[in-house]
Amino acid sequence: MLYTVVLFLHSWLRWGVVVFGVLALGSSLRAWLRGQDWLPSHRRLQVAVVSLFDTQMLLGLTLYFVLSPLTPRSLEALRANLSVSFLRFFSVEHPALMLVALAVAHVASALSRRAEEPTRKHRVWALGLLAVMLLVALAIPWPGLSHGRPLVRGF
Ligand code: HEM
Repeated sequence: MLYTVVLFLHSWLRWGVVVFGVLALGSSLRAWLRGQDWLPSHRRLQVAVVSLFDTQMLLGLTLYFVLSPLTPRSLEALRANLSVSFLRFFSVEHPALMLVALAVAHVASALSRRAEEPTRKHRVWALGLLAVMLLVALAIPWPGLSHGRPLVRGF
């Protein structure tokens, strides 16, 4: 039961990360290219993206280490999972790409906060977020792939 709830939340929160990520990317690219000021609304969007991502990672790690029947619980299970592409995706590829994306999001957010000029703040955040969204797009189990999952998960 708890597994179903957490998987449901993890599936739906993906849309929070994707929608806010795309909004923040559009806003930072526009602001960078037009030489706009760094406004409180830019910072709010940045905090929203990073916080949604952090929450999604906590749910993902709970699935990975506690609830999911697919992920390995020992080195032996990991070795066995590596030879099955569907299991390899959820054991290694998905979490590894998402952890790298999360690290890039935190570094880009911190560097843009520290930068002095507005143009530099927007540029650092826009380019970092572009890399984040590409990694996220690669790591989501889109329907149609061999490891595909539904776009809209029912309960
Ligand atoms: C380090 C971070 C993450 C870990 C460890 C992780 C782990 C997992 C695991 C183990 C599953 C499979 C669960 C199962 O079927 O038993 C899963 C599914 C999934 N993950 Fe993640 N995840 C992480 C981050 C993310 C992020 C950032 C996103 C999207 C923004 C995401 C999107 C998804 C989606 C869409 C599914 C399929 C859900 C479904 O079946 O409806 N994950 N994740």
